[in-house]
Amino acid sequence: MLSEKVQAVIAPHRPKASPEVDPSTLSNYRAFEIGTVHLKFNVDFNNSIVKGNVLYDLKNVGKASEVVLDTSYLTIKQVQVNGSLASFTVGERQGPLGSPLVVSLDNSSVVKLSIDFETTSQCTALQFLEKEATDGQKAPYLFSQCQAIHARSLFPCFDTPSVKTPYEYETTSSLPTIMSGRPNGVEGNIYKFSQPIPIPSYLVAIASGDIDKLPIGPRSHVYCEPKNLKACQHEFKEDMEPFLEAAEKLVFPYPWDQYDALVLPLSFPYGGMENPNATFVTPTLISGDRQNVDVIAHELAHSWLGNLVTNCSWEHFWLNEGWTVYLERRIQGLIHGEPTRHFSAIIGWSDLENSIRAMGDSAKRYSTLVQNLKDRSDPDDAFSTVPYEKGFNLLFMIEQKVGGKEVFDGFIHHYFKEFQFKSLDTYQFLDELYGYFSGKTEQLDSIDWDSWLYKPGMPPTKPHFDTSMVDKCYALADKWYHAVKAGNKTDYKALFKPQDVEGFTANQSVVFLDTLASYGKDGSFAWTFEALNALSEIYTSYSANKNAEVLFRWFIVQVQGKNTSFYTKLGEWLGTVGRMKFVRPGYVLLNKVDSKMAQEYFHKFESRYHPICQAMVRKDLGLS
Ligand code: BES
Ligand code: ZN
Repeated sequence: MLSEKVQAVIAPHRPKASPEVDPSTLSNYRAFEIGTVHLKFNVDFNNSIVKGNVLYDLKNVGKASEVVLDTSYLTIKQVQVNGSLASFTVGERQGPLGSPLVVSLDNSSVVKLSIDFETTSQCTALQFLEKEATDGQKAPYLFSQCQAIHARSLFPCFDTPSVKTPYEYETTSSLPTIMSGRPNGVEGNIYKFSQPIPIPSYLVAIASGDIDKLPIGPRSHVYCEPKNLKACQHEFKEDMEPFLEAAEKLVFPYPWDQYDALVLPLSFPYGGMENPNATFVTPTLISGDRQNVDVIAHELAHSWLGNLVTNCSWEHFWLNEGWTVYLERRIQGLIHGEPTRHFSAIIGWSDLENSIRAMGDSAKRYSTLVQNLKDRSDPDDAFSTVPYEKGFNLLFMIEQKVGGKEVFDGFIHHYFKEFQFKSLDTYQFLDELYGYFSGKTEQLDSIDWDSWLYKPGMPPTKPHFDTSMVDKCYALADKWYHAVKAGNKTDYKALFKPQDVEGFTANQSVVFLDTLASYGKDGSFAWTFEALNALSEIYTSYSANKNAEVLFRWFIVQVQGKNTSFYTKLGEWLGTVGRMKFVRPGYVLLNKVDSKMAQEYFHKFESRYHPICQAMVRKDLGLS
């Protein structure tokens, strides 16, 4: 039970019943119990569309007179209800939420609803690539990205994380195909998969192309185009099984059978996407140094969090991502020790500061942990570091309040067991927390819930982090700060040597460069051309760095400092990555120093990006 004090804070926000109704779907999902969904796709590479059929088994528990499904830019060919052709309407488009598909029902309480559909060229969930845009240049490629609300542009569905069902998939394609389920046989051109664990629509995924696989652990494979397959195996094979074992120790055994990962072509817009049995990842992880595997730990952690225990709507997205970051860092801590966990948390805190600082006035509303999307705004607009890092820090704070991680571990196990296969809101989380720690109400009450959950901006308190791994990064940055402040006479080459950074891990370089980039934000410091040049002449390794996280920070330091020779370097690099985490802030930065150049580069590379990414950059640059 919540204490009276916290009850009073929460009451104005708490919905009448939990889980809270999802405002980002037009479907009437609450009227139905929904059985296994049978989904058939036919990939038409010639026309860059997917044709398909979806079959729903519905129990009309709410006695609804119609079923309403989400669609977006879909063509509905035919609808059948219990074996007979049925009439249907597709309502007017409602912005990012798409168009409701409405089918009338008779009085039968059990409904078999079958829909034939086709995607269109406006589909936001799919990207078709010409063979020239792939690594091997041998065959075209198709991949999907449904989170948050793009599944509705792939097939008509109850597009809400509140609805979870098993799936049976069958895809006809001329090329090898992977879907978010367990492979269940190939017959000629037909690829079958089963997903027996109930999943929400946003986890439906497909990729088809010249794809092959290699093992990266006893229960894991990596999939990729043949050209890069060996490099992918090298990148992940050391860490995959230890990650799985660590996560199992923290939560409970991995219930999904296989954990496989697919490395996509460059235009994949995210670092990773936790599609069950087939995590999708960006090729920017393949840097040869195994220093981006934290993304795999993160997507693996979603197997429990998000994929088993799911946020009921995108307003409670932090329950997916904050928790996942928490678990990801616990995995790192188990394997590499607590200082590594804290190190990663420190980077996260600085990402959070940067992201909140960069939010314009209209985006500030999205810096609250619990979001408000009731005005039907686009969940893609609300996406930021906030649910990840504010969410992580809240959980980290709770861990400390209740007596440390050993004590909190009991709750982790309890919470996951309680909510697996379900979708929940923040209020259910809070009730469960207070219920489990009923002897620690006072400690929990000392958390400023109002600020953490509902106020925009940085969290009210900064947790205490162990800085042992970052101290030398800060010290080196500080030395640069003072050298630059000292003015013209500074002999940089006498003060600094390439060896300063040679022993750094990628993450230590990230902290060092983030710290350099943070100077000057308050106007009391300005980089000089000499200093920036010295930086790049001494630390030549940075310009050649293969790690995108490091290279991107390097560009930030140089471009923010107005070293014009780096503008084109950044611009050209933006043509080689598709991950929005780099592409969006990359163009925003270039736009700040040279908006003409930013627009020119964007026009040049636009067609390489994923449709979601194109739309977001267009918004960022004020082009739409
Ligand atoms: N589920 C997210 C990606 C996502 C979120 C896609 C919302 C669409 C809408 C995924 O698990 C994720 O968080 N990816 C991160 C990587 C990570 C290590 C923080 C990313 O893509 O950067
Ligand atoms: Zn995630």
